[in-house]
Amino acid sequence: MISAAQNKKITQVGPGTPMGNVLRHYWYPVAATSEMENKYTKKVRLLGEDLVLFRDKSNNLGLVQERCPHRGVSLATGFPDEEGIRCPYHGWCFDNKGNCTDQPNEPETSTFKNRVKINAYEVQELGGLIWGYLGPKPAPLLPKFDGFVAENAIRMIGHATLPVNWVQVMENSLDPAHTEWLHGHFDNFVKEQRGEATSNAFIRHHKKIAFDTFEYGIVKRRLFEGQSEDSDDWKVGHPIVFPYILAVGGTGGEGSYAFQMRIPVDDHTTWHVWYQAYAQEPEVTIPEALKDVPLYEVPYLDENGDYLVDYIDGQDIMCWITQGPIADRTDEKLGTTDKGVILFRQMLNEQINKVERGEDPIGVIRDEAKNQFIELPLEKKKHHYSDGFGVITKRFQTRFSPIVEELIEFYEKEKVKM
Ligand code: FES
Ligand SMILES: [Fe+2]
Repeated sequence: MISAAQNKKITQVGPGTPMGNVLRHYWYPVAATSEMENKYTKKVRLLGEDLVLFRDKSNNLGLVQERCPHRGVSLATGFPDEEGIRCPYHGWCFDNKGNCTDQPNEPETSTFKNRVKINAYEVQELGGLIWGYLGPKPAPLLPKFDGFVAENAIRMIGHATLPVNWVQVMENSLDPAHTEWLHGHFDNFVKEQRGEATSNAFIRHHKKIAFDTFEYGIVKRRLFEGQSEDSDDWKVGHPIVFPYILAVGGTGGEGSYAFQMRIPVDDHTTWHVWYQAYAQEPEVTIPEALKDVPLYEVPYLDENGDYLVDYIDGQDIMCWITQGPIADRTDEKLGTTDKGVILFRQMLNEQINKVERGEDPIGVIRDEAKNQFIELPLEKKKHHYSDGFGVITKRFQTRFSPIVEELIEFYEKEKVKM
């Protein structure tokens, strides 16, 4: 339980707020690369700021404030120039540094445009995503975490915009005990209702849970009843990469990566991105059908507005949303299995203090030598995936990927790294 003031402090993301200042030290996905292939603008809301991502005719990307400084039209409705984006209303043009480069109806001798600037932010592409950085300069390096840079990989990206604050979504990742109930007992209840076979993959009791802080955040480990202390689940575990990424091993065994990214849109909204990379040995040829990086929507409500609870991520989403837009932490009763949640909150507060002292928060990378291929600690053999590739891939949000059948067929045929 924390006070209302403390709750506000860790959940506010806007400019000038204590946590907003921390969050502005990290890069965030703002689009999939594929989204910008056939269009020139995308409206983006990130950390409480309304922005537009654009691509100009020279293929430069830009991320600028959405509002045209002339009379407020959305630049997301704009059109590309050779260099920059033009407002559709009176044709003012802005480059990706935020300079106003043209005001067509001002006198030719006017210097007015030199005094008009808009907010502009850095963008970079990596791993099929376009990333933006809104924070203080100089920008840190965009981290090359393993899954984003692994070579010869099949990739796919699911996403959903959820009406919740990002902190409660992250807290779920520090709460391993929920898996045996939500994805075990509750899941089996749902399966029984639907007349489907139940599963033991998630139902095993957690005998022990542990959390260790490391360079990029917190590693979470668990020991299930009947499991040896030598198991990867206990010895290795997987990390919460501060502040907004959960990294888990992909369902394809070694070389497969899955990131759950909880991108704070504003105080009440999170853009959830599920990023999968299935890396293959260099000699394996990836089939044509699996070469593009599709972006697909992950639905979480059915046609009646009820939660879709027949897949793992939908069960999590149900819990996040029913906690309320911002979970009320002034009225909770934390138990022994919530020690990871408490540790995460401590880490949030520590980073607020660090940033207030003028330091970088945890995990900010400024050393190029460190940023080549950052291998995160990741269990190779995960008990949760014991039902096998095809079954488990259909039990997660990956079921909604447009290439899921081809992916399963590829894995079952090649038996790659299973
Ligand atoms: S409102 Fe944008 S150019 Fe006039
Ligand atoms: Fe979960």
